[in-house]
Amino acid sequence: MGKFQVIDHPLIQHKLTIIRDKDCGTKVFREVVGEIANLMAYEVSRDMPLEDIEIETPMTKSIQKTLTGKKVAIIPILRAGIGMVDGILELIPAAKVGHIGLFRDEETLEPHEYFIKLPEDIDNRQLFIVDPMLATGGSAVMAIDSLKKRGASNMKFVCLVAAPEGVKTLQDAHPDVDIYTAALDERLNEDGYIVPGLGDAGDRLFGTK
Ligand code: PRP
Ligand code: URA
Repeated sequence: MGKFQVIDHPLIQHKLTIIRDKDCGTKVFREVVGEIANLMAYEVSRDMPLEDIEIETPMTKSIQKTLTGKKVAIIPILRAGIGMVDGILELIPAAKVGHIGLFRDEETLEPHEYFIKLPEDIDNRQLFIVDPMLATGGSAVMAIDSLKKRGASNMKFVCLVAAPEGVKTLQDAHPDVDIYTAALDERLNEDGYIVPGLGDAGDRLFGTK
């Protein structure tokens, strides 16, 4: 089973409270989503492999560490995942970015894929799939199915708020994928929204409702 980690650093908890507030407007919501993603990227990248290289400091020759291993691609699930991309790119500026567009049918809660555009070498990259919300888990499972079909194998799923139902569904479907969230909430309501959650992440991020 992949790793499941709640990244509950005090700064992250504080910022999450800001965006959970129904009176938080689009501008602040967008800024703070980016800030949380930026903070989470430290932890998500903690196991990146290092190798020794020899360098010369102004004082002496010295063996020091440098990143090695697979390069990263960030894959936001549209729309809301877009809000997390720039915060992660600040830490990993050489990452490529692929997009997968999914929307959840409001009645059935079933996801539908409407767009996909990926870097050509995703089979050779560590993928960070990002979406603020892991609710039923349907969208995350479909996104990862789609990426695996195209050759991806090394994936981490990064969200801000997860429901227990979504975590279980994702773990059952893709036990090889590590899951990172800033919060594990109580439950889903009858409409498939996370409670207490933060509402509709896409609408709040882009001001569409
Ligand atoms: C939201 C959210 C996730 C999905 C989570 O997107 O950003 O992608 O719902 O729900 P699930 O775990 O039950 O599948 P939505 O479909 O509302 O699209 P949007 O980002 O374009 O608003
Ligand atoms: N999608 C959202 O944007 N919010 C939820 O609470 C559940 C799914």
